[in-house]
Amino acid sequence: MTMVEKRTVEDIDVAGKTVLVRVDFNVPFEPGSLEIRDDSRIEASLPTIRFLRDRRCRVVLCSHIGRPKGRVVEKMRMRPATRRLSERLGGSVIEAADCIGPEVEEIVRGLPEAGVAMLENLRFHPGEEANDLQFASALASLASVYVNDAFGTAHRAHASTEGVTRYLPAVAGFLLARELQMLGRALESPERPFTAVLGGAKVSDKIKVLKNLAKRADTLIVGGGMGTTFLKAEGLDVGSSAVEDDEVAMAAELITLARSGGPELLLPVDVVVADSFQEDATTQTVDATDIPPGWMVMDIGPRTAEKFAAALKQSRTVLWNGTMGVFEWASFAAGTRAVANTLAALDYATTVVGGGSTAEAVSSLGLAGRMTHVSTGGGASLEFLEDKVLPGVAALMDKKA
Ligand code: 3PG
Repeated sequence: MTMVEKRTVEDIDVAGKTVLVRVDFNVPFEPGSLEIRDDSRIEASLPTIRFLRDRRCRVVLCSHIGRPKGRVVEKMRMRPATRRLSERLGGSVIEAADCIGPEVEEIVRGLPEAGVAMLENLRFHPGEEANDLQFASALASLASVYVNDAFGTAHRAHASTEGVTRYLPAVAGFLLARELQMLGRALESPERPFTAVLGGAKVSDKIKVLKNLAKRADTLIVGGGMGTTFLKAEGLDVGSSAVEDDEVAMAAELITLARSGGPELLLPVDVVVADSFQEDATTQTVDATDIPPGWMVMDIGPRTAEKFAAALKQSRTVLWNGTMGVFEWASFAAGTRAVANTLAALDYATTVVGGGSTAEAVSSLGLAGRMTHVSTGGGASLEFLEDKVLPGVAALMDKKA
C-alpha cells in the first residue's frame, strides 16, 4: 500500500475526551482452553492506552475475538483478554456486557477520568462485519474521538474499522502508526541489500506477496512448504510432499526471472523429510535432489540454514514472513529457529517479521525483542505486503488534510 501519512493520537486534541479505541485483541488461545498463548497484541496496544490515560481521557476499547458470525458465542467473549489487559494496566478495566446500547452508554458515562472500559466482542453483532452504518453510528455515539490501533484488522472494512470513521474524527494509534512505518519503509525505501524470507505452507496464500517482493528485494529466500513447490518447479522429485501443482508454473516463472537478472533466489539445498505427516514420524535429512519416494518435506536442512544465514548476514534490511518448516512440532522446528537466531544476531540490519505464525514462532523462542519490528498483523500484513489498500487505514485522516 502506498504510504499516505495518517494523523495519529499526537496530531489531535484528545485531552479529557472520551475516546473509542479499536484494538485487535484476537489473541491465540491454548487448544481447547481460554488460556492466552500469546498476548503480544495486548502488550502492543499499551502505549496508546497509556498515552490517552495520561491525558485524562476516558478510554473505550473495542475488539473482536474469532469469527462468531453475528451471534453470541460463549467461548469468544472478551473476558480473558480484558483480564490480561487489567493485569498489565494494574487493575480497573471495566467490562461491558455488550458493545452498544443503553447499558454500555451508562458504563461509558460513569467512567472516571483515565478510566478504561472494554466492550464485548464486536462480532457478536452482524452489523460489525456487514459494516452496518446504524451499528457504526451507535458505536461512534459512545465517544468524541476514534483511534484505530488494530493493525491486525485494518484489512477489513467493518463497522469498527471503517464505518465508524464517518462519524468521528479518526486517527491512528501508536501500534498502527509503527506498523505502517516499519512495513512501509521495508517496501518503499529499504536500506540495501534487502532480503525477503518467505515460507509457510502454501504458495497460493503468498503469490501476490512473492511477486511484489520479487520487484523490490535484492535476494528472495524461499523455504517451508512453499519452498517445496519451487523445488518441484526446478524439476526435482519431491516425494509425497504436499505441493500445489497449480502454482508450479508461477514458481518456475520466478526462477526464470531470477536467472535473467531479477533478484537472487535461494532455495533449500537439503531438507528434513518424514515418512508421514505426524509429530513422531520417522525422519531423515537428505539433499533436495535426493528426496526418497513416499517421504515428505517437513523442514529445511542444516546446510540450507547455513546458506540462508550467509545471505542474511550480508543484508541491511530483512523482511521475514512464513516459517521454514512445521515449527509447531519439535522435530521440524530447527530451520525456523535457525532463521530466527540469525536475524536476532544481526546488529546492523533492520529486521521486520510478519505477523501470524512467524510472529508466534519468534515470540515463543523469546526473540521478539531482538527484532526491529514484529508485526501484530497476519492477514493484514500480507495484504500490506501485496500493496493492497487497507480500508481501516485509508479511512483515517491524512496528515496533510
Ligand atoms: C487476525 O487475527 O488476523 C485479525 O484479528 C483478523 O481476523 P479475521 O481474519 O477473522 O478478520
